[in-house]
Amino acid sequence: MRSIGRPLMPTAFMPGAFEFSGPRGTKWPGESPAAQGPELTSLTAGPPEGLSLSVAVTRRGDAIVRCVTLPGSSLEVSEVGMGCYAAAGVYGEFDEQSFRNLLRLGHERGVTLYDTADTYGDGERILGEAVRPFRGEVVVATKVGLTPEGGRDCSPDHIIRSCEESLNRLDTDYIDLYQVHYHDPQALVSDTVGALERLKKQGKIREYGVGHLPGDRVREYLELGSPAACLAELNCVTRGPYRQLLSVVRGSSVGIIGFSPSGRGLLSGSASEDAPFSAGDVRSMDPLYRGGKFRSALRVTDELRSLADRIGATPVQVAIRWAIELPGVKAVLIGTTSRQHLLENLGSVQIPWDVQIQDHLDAFLDEEDARFQAELPGELKAVLQDEGPVSADTLWDVLYVMEQAIECRWVGEEDILPFFTRLWAMRSAGVDEEEINGIRASLWDLLFQS
Ligand SMILES: NC(=O)c1ccc[n+]([C@@H]2O[C@H](COP(=O)([O-])OP(=O)(O)OC[C@H]3O[C@@H](n4cnc5c(N)ncnc54)[C@H](OP(=O)(O)O)[C@@H]3O)[C@@H](O)[C@H]2O)c1
Repeated sequence: MRSIGRPLMPTAFMPGAFEFSGPRGTKWPGESPAAQGPELTSLTAGPPEGLSLSVAVTRRGDAIVRCVTLPGSSLEVSEVGMGCYAAAGVYGEFDEQSFRNLLRLGHERGVTLYDTADTYGDGERILGEAVRPFRGEVVVATKVGLTPEGGRDCSPDHIIRSCEESLNRLDTDYIDLYQVHYHDPQALVSDTVGALERLKKQGKIREYGVGHLPGDRVREYLELGSPAACLAELNCVTRGPYRQLLSVVRGSSVGIIGFSPSGRGLLSGSASEDAPFSAGDVRSMDPLYRGGKFRSALRVTDELRSLADRIGATPVQVAIRWAIELPGVKAVLIGTTSRQHLLENLGSVQIPWDVQIQDHLDAFLDEEDARFQAELPGELKAVLQDEGPVSADTLWDVLYVMEQAIECRWVGEEDILPFFTRLWAMRSAGVDEEEINGIRASLWDLLFQS
């Protein structure tokens, strides 16, 4: 079995499923097409058959990109954006020079949205260097609110100080989109919003956004401030965070930006249970790559492949396009380090698509979800009751339990956070059998006895 978490940014820790009542294959009403940049020429104005998209389809050189405006803001972004998470070394070996070149190739191919964070290794510096020749043409997004130790800090002091540091590393005068990375239970949302609004007035940031937040927190940000974007994990096998967000942001002027549309490569179909990742690769502990979730993802990948074969695309292109077409979604962030995958992923906006394909895939994913969730309680109980020898892998099995319990909304993130903190500490301190059994017993009580 494979597994779990994200080292610098712990698990997604997002509450999951709720009823989905949005119109399929449509965008928010009133979305305005993005204006074309000077070097872009209009290619076609119409949406793909059966979809009512309000996007500008534009050509730059050989590339076709689609750009949208984040509602309520002046930020124009390509629907496929590039992320710098790989700079943190989370996907194994990382070559700075070739990644910088890749970011520039993305721009040549029409990418105008770039995402990083102050915790992605040298991601901010590398991104700043890469986009320097065309800084004014792109949206640079970064994040704040995590400490180097993995704690959370959204206090005004931390935000103001971190912004200066990010500006320095990015070597820029302004950040286009400054995103609160995670919720900090110790900070008042009103204080955090106050700091962000101050930075906006000072011209240090153009807009701000929020990420990885449970719905009620997003609601608070919407009531107290004016975020332009909400960031959430979104792919064919992780729909919970998106669904929860959609119910909160519907009708507001906030756009959803989805990340990990390929499921960190899982939906390409290249993963197998017999090919473990290197120890440094975050996917060796990723809940997406573990247990029943992994097996469910393989079934989803088979369906993606079958759809892809029918329309002359690849499974990842189908997965990315499906995410882009979801209501409320403005852009998705890909995290590839490979030229071939970049071109493949950008090609997702060019594959044949219509509302029937979107509906078919939605229905398949609903069925697959139901199957996965029916088997889940038994699977989680088995992990919590396992009396076999405890190893590092046990940590990631328990993290899998936590992630699924939150994703399925059996419990809230705040219920799990204390156990998660204890579990996470064992990553560096070493696995303590008594401690891990204590966590398992507490989780058993929380999930199955109350
Ligand atoms: N992951 C998170 O927890 C997270 C959280 C918040 C924000 N973000 C932002 O979102 C961005 C994207 O997230 P992500 O890195 O999770 O996205 P992702 O593109 O789903 O995952 C990247 C991984 O998938 C592989 N991959 C991508 N396209 C592929 C393809 N066509 N075929 C086979 N493998 C493929 C990449 O390998 P290759 O390099 O070999 O292509 C890489 O290992 C991040 O860089 C970051 O800016 C991420």
